[in-house]
Amino acid sequence: MTRMHRVVVGPLPCWLDREQLLAVPHTATELPMGDVEVSAELTSLQAADLAARLRGLCLAARPIQVRCEPPLPRAAVRSARAEDARRRRETTAGFERRGVLVDDPEGRWSLTPEALALEMAGLAGQCSVCDAMCGLGGNAIAFARAGCEVTAIELDAARLARARHNARVYGVLERIRFIHGDARSLLGDMDAALLFLDPPWGVKWNRHGVRLPDLPLLRALLERADHFQRIWLKLPPAFDERGLSEYRPQAVFGKAPGDQARVKFLWLQR
Ligand SMILES: C[S@@+](CC[C@H](N)C(=O)[O-])C[C@H]1O[C@@H](n2cnc3c(N)ncnc32)[C@H](O)[C@@H]1O
Repeated sequence: MTRMHRVVVGPLPCWLDREQLLAVPHTATELPMGDVEVSAELTSLQAADLAARLRGLCLAARPIQVRCEPPLPRAAVRSARAEDARRRRETTAGFERRGVLVDDPEGRWSLTPEALALEMAGLAGQCSVCDAMCGLGGNAIAFARAGCEVTAIELDAARLARARHNARVYGVLERIRFIHGDARSLLGDMDAALLFLDPPWGVKWNRHGVRLPDLPLLRALLERADHFQRIWLKLPPAFDERGLSEYRPQAVFGKAPGDQARVKFLWLQR
């Protein structure tokens, strides 16, 4: 007979798309601070898979606990972890077109996957956009492809040159004004319907809850951004959204088989 486990997962923020993260039938219970805890009846295989996938995950500054009753057989845990490690290598592609230039590791690592950047850009509404830290152009190019007029700022001259080249590869060079400089001194003079901020995440982004003071560049830019009507932020999965209560948070998942149940980043909209 198939052995069943009662699996309890939490805390999870109430705004999270739980269907996508858990990918198994479950019921939710509200916790005192407005978060939720979910429970599910799962086979050893399903439970081990879920536990492996959520192991060590800190989402929106909530370290996620997974409790299984009865405990999982060791063999199931071992094989689920091996399978999870294999799956982690199948991730949503950065740029999908040939001929782009990408610097390793920082540019590649911080590039917004093309499919996700396009999905977001499609919701901007063909407005003017200021991408204040454009990196290799992952988002700036997607905004331009979605019909936006884009101003893209980048501090690193070599990366900016790659972003410009990449915009040419995607045929949107004329729709992006590239500016080399420090967004902190430039932002006050920028005018656009939408400000997009994707700051460097720092080294501890995956391990602990990340709070606004942990991202001083983001904080400095937000202090200079009052004149923008709309602001979108792309932040690490562990970012504590409760420090920015006027923003609507959303978890963005991958598209590839290996990361479609993984939160790639948080998207906060004001
Ligand atoms: C997370 S990356 C942006 C990735 C980009 N959204 C993409 O998809 O390619 C952040 C970028 O901010 C740049 N940056 C850091 N400090 C900056 C500053 N003060 N002004 C402008 N850009 C800055 C970094 O060089 C880095 O390329």
